[in-house]
Amino acid sequence: MRGVRLLPAVLALLVITATPVHAAPRIVGGVVAEAGEAPWVVALTSSGDQFCGGALLGPGQVVTAAHCVDGRPPASITVVGGRLDLRTGDGATSAVSAHRVVDGYSTPSRGKDLAVLTLAEPMPYAPLPVAQSSGVYMGGSVGVVYGWGRQAEDDAVKSPLLHKAHIPIVPDAQCAAVHPRYDAVVMFCAGYPDGGIDSCVDDSGGPFVIDGRLVGIVSWGVGCARPNLPGVYTRVTTYLSAAA
Ligand code: ARG
Repeated sequence: MRGVRLLPAVLALLVITATPVHAAPRIVGGVVAEAGEAPWVVALTSSGDQFCGGALLGPGQVVTAAHCVDGRPPASITVVGGRLDLRTGDGATSAVSAHRVVDGYSTPSRGKDLAVLTLAEPMPYAPLPVAQSSGVYMGGSVGVVYGWGRQAEDDAVKSPLLHKAHIPIVPDAQCAAVHPRYDAVVMFCAGYPDGGIDSCVDDSGGPFVIDGRLVGIVSWGVGCARPNLPGVYTRVTTYLSAAA
């Protein structure tokens, strides 16, 4: 299994080295993810275009945001794993045979923004374990978010390279004060008072990870990386429980 992961790693490194140093980071204010650090990250694509992120929960299961797949026929989605640079043919792809959206989901700003996809072809990459308790949602805990989304809210161009950013969780009361629709049962917020670092459009569905465990899913925001407007994430432990 290790060998399977190493080959894409080498190719991705070559490509990253060939990228001009002034290339702008994606996610907003992030850095390029390193080969092997996030084997469970997947891209959701349609006709070759990445539109959301996700993470492997098991070889044949992907967790993403409900709004990424709601209303999209499973057959129109291809999941790409083991590919940091979407311009390459690295890794593995799979069709989606079914998806299940959380009951009662309507729109990201009302929460419940989580879906689980069943893959037609299991993927040979390490899955991401789910956080063990709701105690992880403490203000100040820093998570890492991964995605191929925009580098700025008005940026039409996306990076083909997987990016990541470290972002602290914002206490519930503080988030409720800035997002009137905030619901601490099903969401949490993460961001910096000064903005500048955030997830953004097309990062949706991607994982927010603390200590190697899935804690959140990129869900919604008001613009991206604006001061005092933290990004909103699905509170994963409300929906998924950790395997023992
Ligand atoms: N809804 C966006 C998507 O579909 C994610 C937005 C996240 N925004 C933020 N400011 N963190 O890709």
